[in-house]
Amino acid sequence: MKNIEIIGTGRSIPSKVVTNDDLAKIVDTSDEWISTRTGIRQRRFCDEGESANSLAIAAAAKAIAASGLAPEDIGVCICATISGNYATPSMACIVQRELGLRECIPALDVNAACSGFLYGIEVARGLLNGTGENYALVVGCEQLSKLLDMTDRSTCVLFGDGAGAAVVRISDDAPYASTLGARGGYEISVLGAGPEPSHIHMDGAEVFKFATNIIPKCIGELEKKSGIGIDGVSKVVCHQANERIIDSCIRRMKADSSKFYKNMDRFGNTSAASVPIALSELVENGEVKDGDLLMMVGFGAGLTWAGALVRYAGQ
Ligand code: COA
Repeated sequence: MKNIEIIGTGRSIPSKVVTNDDLAKIVDTSDEWISTRTGIRQRRFCDEGESANSLAIAAAAKAIAASGLAPEDIGVCICATISGNYATPSMACIVQRELGLRECIPALDVNAACSGFLYGIEVARGLLNGTGENYALVVGCEQLSKLLDMTDRSTCVLFGDGAGAAVVRISDDAPYASTLGARGGYEISVLGAGPEPSHIHMDGAEVFKFATNIIPKCIGELEKKSGIGIDGVSKVVCHQANERIIDSCIRRMKADSSKFYKNMDRFGNTSAASVPIALSELVENGEVKDGDLLMMVGFGAGLTWAGALVRYAGQ
């Protein structure tokens, strides 16, 4: 099976800024509690006229433009989300239609929560190899604000909305490694079968323990498979759930903290969107350049986890 590399990135961030002080007006919390426990200072929520699908379409269009390709070059369309506008049609089918991608290509959503974008990258690799197509669009997009119980201070302060996207292409020589896993459980859940609105529920302490174990495990797996460790990559992009989770892993691995990107202070936890939003910021601000290698790690509901070592081959 051939490897893949990233050739274009994009993101779309909703317009409504919600600060910790804004939340302190609704629930019994404070900027001090949220920022010291999580590193989050604000998040974005969709405003009128914005939705998960509109963010996904905008981020995907930017990633395709950045790749230098035309929509008709895309051969696989994948959206990672747990909060699309509809159960069906999938977000990927709406993106396919709105961006004018070809009709003879696979378009599907991936539900792996905060690991979804990296699951999507690996699914894209499999589908590109299986179909003989050269380019795939992978989007991570969430509108988690609609799943929040705004009376539950233990969850409503953690999450935000947003979208990120990447175009990947088949490569004969790019280094690449991936690791995927799952351990079914209800530690983070949105259990919505009845007439009541569904909300995110979470066992914060259990998830914290899980996350701090799984990040070093994923990075170790990537190193074992590729022979490339943190020293050999330009940046490590972990899912942006909580600054303390990332810092605890850095300490445990005795890793160079400057390699680990963080933006949860501005966006909170955007689940499947967090890794591609970070990626798109890194490319835009020049911290990731043509030829650089990246490690990316996702973890979250399912429980699921995923890691990828990928080359960025940008314009
Ligand atoms: N504001 C103020 N107090 C809050 C609060 C809030 N937003 N949320 C919870 N508290 C209270 C609790 O009720 C508890 O009060 P009590 O001691 O009177 O019962 C106290 O703060 C301590 O709660 P605790 O759960 O022990 O805090 P913590 O230090 O473990 O931090 C999390 C809680 C959620 C920040 C932490 O467990 C965490 O980050 N978990 C991982 C969550 C995550 O990232 N999930 C997504 C992964 S994809």
